[in-house]
Amino acid sequence: MSKTLLLYFSGYGHTRKIAERIRARLAEQGEDVLSAALDDDSIDPSAYDRIVIGASIRNGKHKPAVHDFIQRHLSLLEERPSGFFSVNLVARKPGKNTPETNPYLKAFLEKSPWTPDLVGVFAGNLDYQRYSFADRNIIRFIMWLTKGPTDPQTNTEFTDWEQVDRFAERIAELGKPAKAA
Ligand SMILES: Cc1cc2nc3c(=O)[nH]c(=O)nc-3n(C[C@H](O)[C@H](O)[C@H](O)COP(=O)(O)O)c2cc1C
Repeated sequence: MSKTLLLYFSGYGHTRKIAERIRARLAEQGEDVLSAALDDDSIDPSAYDRIVIGASIRNGKHKPAVHDFIQRHLSLLEERPSGFFSVNLVARKPGKNTPETNPYLKAFLEKSPWTPDLVGVFAGNLDYQRYSFADRNIIRFIMWLTKGPTDPQTNTEFTDWEQVDRFAERIAELGKPAKAA
């Protein structure tokens, strides 16, 4: 049986929650799967048959640690069936919620030397009460610019969990021979 590694970079835990949901869905199908933080040095990615990376957007970018990891493990990522997903709030908008239309995912794919076999993008969450003072102000400004919720008392989860489940199903197919039509 193939082993799947789900690595996440998560600021306030929402990308970790999405990775956990994917892990649970794969485990239900009998898959051997580990979900872990991208900077967990105790993990040897070469021990896994499939590798999927998920990362959130902070201030317009995926964190440099994500690009560093990809650079360091590029040949492994290219050699094994692999996937990438981005989590951001722009993806809450219809018309910006697919790999083809989400500006962050498009920029990632243009810049990255790695070509994942599977890509996804999910709308994140907006939990004002959990943010530091500085982060709360940054994100309120972004929400004001993009006509999102600006009330600092609110917590809004924009993630479409069925879309996450469909992505998990596609991960389970990664590296398997294509089904006959
Ligand atoms: C300080 C901060 C900056 C953010 N900047 C952006 C941004 O530029 N564009 C965007 O679409 N989402 C932005 N977000 C939204 C996050 O991508 C979203 O909340 C996501 O769910 C965070 O996942 P995480 O908890 O795993 O980091 C930002 C969030 C925070 C807290």
